Amino acid sequence: MKILVTGGTGYIGSHTVVELMQNGFDVVIVDALFNSQAKAVDAIEKIVGRRPEFESFDLTCRKKTSDFFDRHTDIQGVIHFAAHKAVGESVKEPLKYYRNNVISLINIIDEMSRHNVQNLVFSSSCTVYGQPDPEFLPIPEHAPIKKAESPYGNTKQIAESIIADTIKAEDKIRGIALRYFNPVGAHESAMIGELPNGVPNNLMPYITQTAYGIRPILKVFGNDYPTPDGTPIRDYIHIMDLAKAHVAAIRRMTDGRMKKNFEIFNIGTGTGYSVLDVINSFEKTSGVKLNYEIAPRREGDTIKVWADPSFSNRELGWKAERNLDDMTRSAWKWEQAYRKGETLFE
Ligand code: UFG
Repeated sequence: MKILVTGGTGYIGSHTVVELMQNGFDVVIVDALFNSQAKAVDAIEKIVGRRPEFESFDLTCRKKTSDFFDRHTDIQGVIHFAAHKAVGESVKEPLKYYRNNVISLINIIDEMSRHNVQNLVFSSSCTVYGQPDPEFLPIPEHAPIKKAESPYGNTKQIAESIIADTIKAEDKIRGIALRYFNPVGAHESAMIGELPNGVPNNLMPYITQTAYGIRPILKVFGNDYPTPDGTPIRDYIHIMDLAKAHVAAIRRMTDGRMKKNFEIFNIGTGTGYSVLDVINSFEKTSGVKLNYEIAPRREGDTIKVWADPSFSNRELGWKAERNLDDMTRSAWKWEQAYRKGETLFE
């Protein structure tokens, strides 16, 4: 069975392609390489022993998207990752986000419909929940959607609505939106991992780059939040557990196990960890003393959010298996391999 993975050379995409191929799926990747490298395709081949097909073009181009689907008539499902994802940048350049994230989705659904491709898995985010009210922690899928704090977050909400409305209007397409919590870590081979462009926004790559000496010091954004140690709490999830959730979602669709034509699942571990918990785990698994300081709060940060994954566990038959130490250990292994030139990436 062949799956189109858009954004398949990116962080979550590349790990998911590995997991799909190791589970017997064929994969064709489409990626415009805005924020990733084609070397990911070589790395995937090295891990899996089989090469995914790969085409590089911009999915906001309707003609190119349509030509692609005309040439690939054997696609049976689409996992759509390709999107811009930097929260801060989206505030400064909203149209870049709306244009890319929304138009590519519309083009893909249009072509799926035209070519009778039924199955769509969409890459959504727990950002749609904003800061949940206390009665919704851990947060279930039916918790209210809060007004998005950034254009990036808004594109995820809009995308979920576009999928829901289209599926309501035509019963040819089925969709699953996976709302990811905080993906971190890397494939155990350290051949693929997270490769942020420039200065990382996210905690884990900032930690590993600081430990490696690329950044002088990690700033912990605020320790005066109403949490046990004062730092914000997130549901960090190992990237390979997240990758497996996509295989489970595709199987649920193709095995005819969906209960509605559009389903939404939280993809988290169900456990929240603070920024200091992550730092402590990192120091333990790496043996490196991390240089960090407490800094002012970062604007727009959620105080605490973690998933209620019980619906995913039950319905998808999927459960996160790796713990925080596995996450920090694999992230560090990847950072070192990359910096020592042991990977295929530039
Ligand atoms: N943090 C620091 N210092 C840093 C970077 C992060 O203290 O240098 C803290 C943040 O303040 C936050 C925690 O680490 O408390 C996690 O921050 P990340 O930026 O790694 O993750 P976020 O939860 O803020 O953002 C992530 C994704 C977004 C998504 C959001 C949904 O990056 O794409 O989850 O909640 F929208």
